[in-house]
Amino acid sequence: MKRVLLATEKPFAADAVIEIEKIAKSSGYELVRLENYKTKDELLNAVKDVDAIIIRSDIVDKEVIEAGKNLKIVVRAGAGYDNIDLNAATEHNVVAMNTPGQNSNAVAELAFGMMIYHARAFFSGKSGSELRGKTIGIHAYGNVGKYVGMIAKGFGMKIYAFDPFVDDALMHADGVIPVKSVEELYKNCQYVSLHIPANEKTKKSINKDLMMLMPKNAVLVNTARKEVISEVDLLEVMSQRKDFAYLSDIAPDCAAEMTEKFPGRFFFTPKKMGAQTEEANVNAGIAAIKQIIDFFEKGDVRFKVN
Ligand code: 3PG
Repeated sequence: MKRVLLATEKPFAADAVIEIEKIAKSSGYELVRLENYKTKDELLNAVKDVDAIIIRSDIVDKEVIEAGKNLKIVVRAGAGYDNIDLNAATEHNVVAMNTPGQNSNAVAELAFGMMIYHARAFFSGKSGSELRGKTIGIHAYGNVGKYVGMIAKGFGMKIYAFDPFVDDALMHADGVIPVKSVEELYKNCQYVSLHIPANEKTKKSINKDLMMLMPKNAVLVNTARKEVISEVDLLEVMSQRKDFAYLSDIAPDCAAEMTEKFPGRFFFTPKKMGAQTEEANVNAGIAAIKQIIDFFEKGDVRFKVN
Protein backbone atom coordinates (compact mmCIF):
# COMPACT_ATOMS: atom_id res chain seq x y z
CA MET A 1 0.00 0.00 0.00
CA LYS A 2 1.38 3.43 -0.98
CA ARG A 3 1.81 5.95 1.81
CA VAL A 4 1.08 9.67 1.42
CA LEU A 5 2.39 12.08 4.05
CA LEU A 6 0.31 15.17 4.77
CA ALA A 7 2.98 17.49 6.19
CA THR A 8 1.42 20.81 7.11
CA GLU A 9 3.11 23.01 9.68
CA LYS A 10 0.05 25.27 9.27
CA PRO A 11 -2.77 22.70 9.29
CA PHE A 12 -5.68 22.49 6.88
CA ALA A 13 -9.23 22.86 8.19
CA ALA A 14 -10.42 19.57 9.75
CA ASP A 15 -12.98 18.96 6.98
CA ALA A 16 -10.29 19.19 4.32
CA VAL A 17 -8.24 16.49 6.04
CA ILE A 18 -11.31 14.24 6.31
CA GLU A 19 -11.90 14.64 2.55
CA ILE A 20 -8.25 13.99 1.67
CA GLU A 21 -8.21 10.85 3.84
CA LYS A 22 -11.48 9.59 2.33
CA ILE A 23 -10.13 9.89 -1.22
CA ALA A 24 -6.79 8.30 -0.28
CA LYS A 25 -8.48 5.33 1.44
CA SER A 26 -10.96 4.71 -1.37
CA SER A 27 -8.05 4.38 -3.80
CA GLY A 28 -6.09 2.08 -1.49
CA TYR A 29 -3.59 4.67 -0.23
CA GLU A 30 -2.64 5.29 3.40
CA LEU A 31 -2.63 8.89 4.62
CA VAL A 32 0.04 9.63 7.25
CA ARG A 33 -0.61 12.90 9.11
CA LEU A 34 2.09 15.28 10.34
CA GLU A 35 0.16 18.42 11.12
CA ASN A 36 1.19 21.42 13.17
CA TYR A 37 4.71 20.08 13.52
CA LYS A 38 7.34 22.20 15.22
CA THR A 39 10.75 21.02 14.03
CA LYS A 40 12.38 20.02 10.77
CA ASP A 41 13.47 16.76 12.42
CA GLU A 42 9.83 15.71 12.68
CA LEU A 43 9.47 16.19 8.93
CA LEU A 44 12.76 14.41 8.17
CA ASN A 45 11.62 11.48 10.25
CA ALA A 46 8.11 11.33 8.79
CA VAL A 47 9.28 11.48 5.16
CA LYS A 48 11.57 8.44 5.54
CA ASP A 49 9.13 5.76 4.47
CA VAL A 50 6.47 7.51 2.37
CA ASP A 51 5.92 7.51 -1.40
CA ALA A 52 4.40 10.97 -1.66
CA ILE A 53 4.03 14.20 0.32
CA ILE A 54 1.37 16.88 0.36
CA ILE A 55 2.68 20.19 1.69
CA ARG A 56 1.68 23.84 1.96
CA SER A 57 4.42 26.46 2.55
CA ASP A 58 6.46 23.75 4.27
CA ILE A 59 10.12 23.79 3.23
CA VAL A 60 11.08 20.79 1.16
CA ASP A 61 14.80 21.25 0.64
CA LYS A 62 17.56 18.87 -0.47
CA GLU A 63 17.78 17.32 3.01
CA VAL A 64 14.06 16.51 3.08
CA ILE A 65 14.17 15.10 -0.46
CA GLU A 66 17.16 12.94 0.41
CA ALA A 67 15.53 11.71 3.62
CA GLY A 68 12.60 10.42 1.55
CA LYS A 69 14.17 7.22 0.30
CA ASN A 70 10.93 6.04 -1.37
CA LEU A 71 9.71 9.51 -2.31
CA LYS A 72 8.38 9.86 -5.87
CA ILE A 73 6.20 12.96 -5.73
CA VAL A 74 5.75 16.18 -3.72
CA VAL A 75 2.56 18.16 -4.24
CA ARG A 76 2.38 21.70 -2.97
CA ALA A 77 -1.31 22.16 -2.16
CA GLY A 78 -1.34 25.73 -3.38
CA ALA A 79 0.17 27.96 -6.02
CA GLY A 80 3.69 29.10 -5.09
CA TYR A 81 6.36 26.41 -5.07
CA ASP A 82 9.32 28.57 -4.04
CA ASN A 83 9.49 26.39 -0.89
CA ILE A 84 10.55 23.29 -2.87
CA ASP A 85 14.13 22.72 -4.01
CA LEU A 86 13.23 21.81 -7.58
CA ASN A 87 16.80 20.94 -8.58
CA ALA A 88 17.14 18.49 -5.70
CA ALA A 89 13.77 16.97 -6.60
CA THR A 90 14.77 16.52 -10.24
CA GLU A 91 18.17 15.11 -9.24
CA HIS A 92 16.43 12.45 -7.15
CA ASN A 93 13.70 11.70 -9.70
CA VAL A 94 11.03 13.23 -7.51
CA VAL A 95 8.17 14.93 -9.35
CA ALA A 96 7.10 18.30 -7.91
CA MET A 97 3.60 19.68 -8.59
CA ASN A 98 1.39 22.51 -7.43
CA THR A 99 -2.41 22.82 -7.53
CA PRO A 100 -2.90 26.08 -9.45
CA GLY A 101 -6.12 28.03 -8.95
CA GLN A 102 -7.45 26.01 -6.03
CA ASN A 103 -6.93 28.63 -3.33
CA SER A 104 -6.95 31.76 -5.52
CA ASN A 105 -10.31 33.19 -4.48
CA ALA A 106 -9.34 33.01 -0.80
CA VAL A 107 -6.16 34.99 -1.47
CA ALA A 108 -8.03 37.59 -3.53
CA GLU A 109 -10.64 38.02 -0.80
CA LEU A 110 -7.90 38.60 1.77
CA ALA A 111 -6.40 41.35 -0.42
CA PHE A 112 -9.75 43.15 -0.26
CA GLY A 113 -10.15 42.42 3.45
CA MET A 114 -6.87 44.23 4.09
CA MET A 115 -7.76 47.07 1.71
CA ILE A 116 -11.09 47.71 3.42
CA TYR A 117 -9.55 47.44 6.89
CA HIS A 118 -6.96 50.04 5.94
CA ALA A 119 -9.36 52.29 4.00
CA ARG A 120 -11.65 52.40 7.05
CA ALA A 121 -8.84 53.51 9.36
CA PHE A 122 -8.54 50.04 10.89
CA PHE A 123 -12.11 50.31 12.21
CA SER A 124 -10.93 52.89 14.72
CA GLY A 125 -13.96 55.13 14.39
CA LYS A 126 -12.04 57.78 12.40
CA SER A 127 -13.32 58.74 8.94
CA GLY A 128 -11.77 56.57 6.30
CA SER A 129 -12.25 56.30 2.55
CA GLU A 130 -14.02 54.10 0.00
CA LEU A 131 -12.75 51.85 -2.76
CA ARG A 132 -15.42 52.86 -5.31
CA GLY A 133 -13.97 54.97 -8.11
CA LYS A 134 -10.36 54.29 -7.09
CA THR A 135 -7.77 52.76 -9.41
CA ILE A 136 -6.31 49.32 -8.80
CA GLY A 137 -3.37 47.75 -10.63
CA ILE A 138 -3.11 43.99 -10.72
CA HIS A 139 0.53 43.03 -10.98
CA ALA A 140 0.33 39.64 -12.76
CA TYR A 141 -3.02 38.51 -14.10
CA GLY A 142 -2.94 34.84 -13.19
CA ASN A 143 -5.43 32.87 -11.12
CA VAL A 144 -5.40 35.21 -8.11
CA GLY A 145 -5.14 38.33 -10.27
CA LYS A 146 -8.31 37.36 -12.14
CA TYR A 147 -10.28 36.99 -8.90
CA VAL A 148 -8.95 40.34 -7.70
CA GLY A 149 -10.23 41.86 -10.95
CA MET A 150 -13.65 40.27 -10.51
CA ILE A 151 -14.01 41.53 -6.94
CA ALA A 152 -12.65 45.00 -7.85
CA LYS A 153 -15.36 45.27 -10.49
CA GLY A 154 -18.00 44.73 -7.80
CA PHE A 155 -16.42 47.53 -5.77
CA GLY A 156 -16.67 49.88 -8.76
CA MET A 157 -12.92 50.34 -9.09
CA LYS A 158 -11.10 51.19 -12.31
CA ILE A 159 -8.97 48.13 -13.01
CA TYR A 160 -5.60 47.92 -14.74
CA ALA A 161 -3.33 44.89 -15.08
CA PHE A 162 0.17 44.13 -16.22
CA ASP A 163 1.05 40.64 -17.38
CA PRO A 164 3.23 40.03 -20.43
CA PHE A 165 2.03 36.41 -20.58
CA VAL A 166 -1.67 37.20 -20.88
CA ASP A 167 -3.41 38.41 -24.06
CA ASP A 168 -4.82 41.93 -23.98
CA ALA A 169 -8.07 40.59 -25.44
CA LEU A 170 -8.58 38.34 -22.43
CA MET A 171 -8.17 41.27 -20.04
CA HIS A 172 -10.48 43.47 -22.10
CA ALA A 173 -13.11 40.71 -22.00
CA ASP A 174 -12.87 40.81 -18.19
CA GLY A 175 -13.29 44.59 -18.10
CA VAL A 176 -9.63 45.08 -17.19
CA ILE A 177 -7.36 47.63 -18.91
CA PRO A 178 -4.06 46.04 -19.94
CA VAL A 179 -0.93 48.18 -19.65
CA LYS A 180 2.30 47.66 -21.54
CA SER A 181 4.81 48.16 -18.75
CA VAL A 182 5.07 47.66 -15.05
CA GLU A 183 5.93 51.36 -14.70
CA GLU A 184 2.66 52.33 -16.39
CA LEU A 185 0.76 50.15 -13.92
CA TYR A 186 2.32 51.77 -10.86
CA LYS A 187 1.96 55.28 -12.33
CA ASN A 188 -1.77 54.82 -12.93
CA CYS A 189 -2.87 53.04 -9.79
CA GLN A 190 -3.49 54.24 -6.25
CA TYR A 191 -3.80 50.59 -5.19
CA VAL A 192 -1.41 47.96 -6.53
CA SER A 193 -2.04 44.30 -5.71
CA LEU A 194 0.90 41.93 -6.15
CA HIS A 195 0.43 38.47 -7.63
CA ILE A 196 3.87 37.60 -8.93
CA PRO A 197 5.69 34.45 -7.84
CA ALA A 198 8.93 34.64 -5.84
CA ASN A 199 11.85 33.56 -8.00
CA GLU A 200 15.33 34.77 -8.89
CA LYS A 201 13.89 37.36 -11.30
CA THR A 202 11.20 38.77 -9.02
CA LYS A 203 12.86 38.79 -5.59
CA LYS A 204 13.33 42.42 -4.40
CA SER A 205 11.93 43.57 -7.76
CA ILE A 206 9.32 45.86 -6.20
CA ASN A 207 11.68 48.71 -5.60
CA LYS A 208 11.75 52.40 -4.82
CA ASP A 209 11.48 53.45 -8.48
CA LEU A 210 8.17 51.60 -8.81
CA MET A 211 6.75 52.58 -5.44
CA MET A 212 7.57 56.26 -5.99
CA LEU A 213 5.59 56.22 -9.24
CA MET A 214 2.33 55.47 -7.46
CA PRO A 215 -0.16 58.35 -7.20
CA LYS A 216 -1.23 60.15 -4.02
CA ASN A 217 -2.40 57.99 -1.09
CA ALA A 218 -0.71 54.93 -2.53
CA VAL A 219 -1.49 51.51 -1.08
CA LEU A 220 0.71 48.55 -1.95
CA VAL A 221 -1.05 45.24 -1.21
CA ASN A 222 1.11 42.14 -0.99
CA THR A 223 -0.56 38.75 -0.80
CA ALA A 224 2.23 37.23 -2.93
CA ARG A 225 5.55 36.75 -1.10
CA LYS A 226 7.40 39.12 1.21
CA GLU A 227 10.60 38.37 -0.75
CA VAL A 228 9.41 40.22 -3.88
CA ILE A 229 9.69 43.55 -2.03
CA SER A 230 12.97 45.40 -1.64
CA GLU A 231 12.53 46.14 2.05
CA VAL A 232 15.38 48.66 2.12
CA ASP A 233 13.51 50.58 -0.57
CA LEU A 234 10.16 50.12 1.17
CA LEU A 235 11.51 51.75 4.34
CA GLU A 236 12.89 54.63 2.30
CA VAL A 237 9.60 55.15 0.48
CA MET A 238 7.64 54.98 3.73
CA SER A 239 9.82 57.73 5.20
CA GLN A 240 9.81 59.92 2.08
CA ARG A 241 6.10 59.56 1.37
CA LYS A 242 3.75 60.13 4.28
CA ASP A 243 0.89 59.10 1.99
CA PHE A 244 2.22 55.58 1.30
CA ALA A 245 0.79 52.47 2.98
CA TYR A 246 1.87 48.83 2.85
CA LEU A 247 -0.51 45.94 3.53
CA SER A 248 0.98 42.48 3.60
CA ASP A 249 -0.07 38.90 4.18
CA ILE A 250 2.73 38.05 6.62
CA ALA A 251 5.07 40.54 8.26
CA PRO A 252 8.16 41.70 6.38
CA ASP A 253 11.61 41.26 7.93
CA CYS A 254 11.58 45.01 8.66
CA ALA A 255 8.34 44.77 10.70
CA ALA A 256 9.92 46.12 13.90
CA GLU A 257 11.21 49.24 12.13
CA MET A 258 7.86 49.77 10.40
CA THR A 259 6.06 49.48 13.73
CA GLU A 260 8.36 51.99 15.38
CA LYS A 261 8.47 54.55 12.58
CA PHE A 262 5.25 54.30 10.59
CA PRO A 263 2.31 53.54 12.87
CA GLY A 264 -1.07 53.54 11.15
CA ARG A 265 0.39 53.11 7.67
CA PHE A 266 0.73 49.35 7.44
CA PHE A 267 -0.98 46.10 8.26
CA PHE A 268 0.57 42.64 8.50
CA THR A 269 -1.13 39.32 9.15
CA PRO A 270 0.61 37.48 12.00
CA LYS A 271 0.78 34.28 9.97
CA LYS A 272 0.35 33.78 6.21
CA MET A 273 -3.43 33.83 5.91
CA GLY A 274 -4.28 34.15 2.21
CA ALA A 275 -5.26 30.53 1.67
CA GLN A 276 -6.61 29.95 5.19
CA THR A 277 -10.24 29.22 4.39
CA GLU A 278 -12.06 25.94 4.66
CA GLU A 279 -12.98 26.18 0.97
CA ALA A 280 -9.40 26.77 -0.18
CA ASN A 281 -8.11 23.97 2.07
CA VAL A 282 -10.69 21.53 0.72
CA ASN A 283 -10.08 22.51 -2.91
CA ALA A 284 -6.29 22.44 -2.73
CA GLY A 285 -6.16 19.33 -0.52
CA ILE A 286 -8.49 17.31 -2.75
CA ALA A 287 -6.63 18.42 -5.88
CA ALA A 288 -3.32 17.37 -4.28
CA ILE A 289 -4.40 13.85 -3.29
CA LYS A 290 -6.09 13.31 -6.67
CA GLN A 291 -2.95 14.44 -8.50
CA ILE A 292 -0.89 11.97 -6.46
CA ILE A 293 -3.25 9.10 -7.23
CA ASP A 294 -3.39 10.02 -10.93
CA PHE A 295 0.40 10.17 -10.99
CA PHE A 296 0.82 6.68 -9.54
CA GLU A 297 -2.14 5.07 -11.33
CA LYS A 298 -1.96 6.76 -14.74
CA GLY A 299 1.45 8.44 -14.93
CA ASP A 300 -0.34 11.81 -15.14
CA VAL A 301 2.20 14.64 -14.74
CA ARG A 302 0.02 17.53 -15.91
CA PHE A 303 0.84 19.82 -12.99
CA LYS A 304 4.56 19.04 -12.84
CA VAL A 305 6.71 22.11 -12.19
CA ASN A 306 10.20 20.57 -12.34
C1 3PG B 1 0.07 29.72 -2.17
O1 3PG B 1 1.17 29.90 -2.71
O2 3PG B 1 -0.74 28.88 -2.59
C2 3PG B 1 -0.34 30.61 -1.03
O3 3PG B 1 0.68 31.47 -0.66
C3 3PG B 1 -0.86 29.83 0.17
O4 3PG B 1 0.14 29.31 0.98
P1 3PG B 1 -0.24 28.39 2.25
O5 3PG B 1 -0.78 27.10 1.75
O6 3PG B 1 1.05 28.21 2.99
O7 3PG B 1 -1.25 29.11 3.07
